[in-house]
Amino acid sequence: MQSNTNGFERSGTRERNLGLELVRVTEAAAYAAGRFMGRGDKEAVDQAAVDAMRNALDGVDMHGTVVIGEGEKDEAPMLFIGEEVGNGLAPDVDVAVDPVDGTRLTALGLPGAIAVVAVADRGTMFAAPPGVFYMRKLAVGRAAAAAIDLEAPIAENLARIAQARDVPVQDITVTILDRTRHQEIIDEVRAAGARIRLITDGDVAAAIQAATEEYKAVDVYMGIGGAPEAVLAAAALKCIGGQMLCQIWPRTDEERAKLAADGVDLKRIYTVDDLITTNNVSFAATGITSGELLKGVEYTGSGARTHSVMMRGRTGTIRYIEATHRWRQ
Ligand code: FBP
Repeated sequence: MQSNTNGFERSGTRERNLGLELVRVTEAAAYAAGRFMGRGDKEAVDQAAVDAMRNALDGVDMHGTVVIGEGEKDEAPMLFIGEEVGNGLAPDVDVAVDPVDGTRLTALGLPGAIAVVAVADRGTMFAAPPGVFYMRKLAVGRAAAAAIDLEAPIAENLARIAQARDVPVQDITVTILDRTRHQEIIDEVRAAGARIRLITDGDVAAAIQAATEEYKAVDVYMGIGGAPEAVLAAAALKCIGGQMLCQIWPRTDEERAKLAADGVDLKRIYTVDDLITTNNVSFAATGITSGELLKGVEYTGSGARTHSVMMRGRTGTIRYIEATHRWRQ
């Protein structure tokens, strides 16, 4: 094995595809978490996924540092920010994890929960400053990538997106998290005449769907969601194309003042390229409960069947992988 300048090993003339190994990581998290579907216990869902993901990550040839994780060391026993994962071999990488995006969805047996991991060259993922929990987000596909502006009014953005897609605004569908904080956004989208798809959770999948030109049931994702989920979605969009603009969103005046005092730039608008500054990024997700992006885990008696997507930034390859796992012959 030799290393190329990006730290990705070549075996013969073929470049190693780390993303394929990441699928095994999200599969493991998904079939561990899926066992707790509908049992009403969010903590059990998360714990099962974290344990399985941590264990699977250690089997991957990489020297990873968790940049987007379960939280700081003291509040998260595993997959905490700064934790080293992988078996310690090259390459040196940043790792972003969301063992379950949609813990509530899983606990209640609702559609759309996924397990997510992304890996990129060391130092290339946006590490949210401490105290940053949420971001405003606006995501679209390639056709409208240059048309959006997070500072422009919603009606103007929708008009520009419609023009870029060469359709009337009435044909544009916007996904929004169903939260009271979004009432104004919902009112403005309605006033502009676009269609709305409210979701209860899971905005990584929502951003991916908005960015995927082949999936046009949704054209836009907008609203305020988790900052870690923004980085994970950016890793996927780096591979798919499209754009997602983000801005740090303090929840209260107190939080705003604290972040400003800490020198956090609250005006800055982040693009996908700001959140992930390399093309050498891989993204994997596996369905936990069945949703529009991925089917959920099916247990077969002798094992489980999983459905995953794997994406690669350098080539733009997107693979959908169905796997049968057998743990009893
Ligand atoms: P978790 O599964 O980690 O709880 O995240 C679900 C989610 O819906 C994310 O997809 C989204 O970014 C975030 O929660 C929104 O946060 P909140 O539920 O606080 O509005």
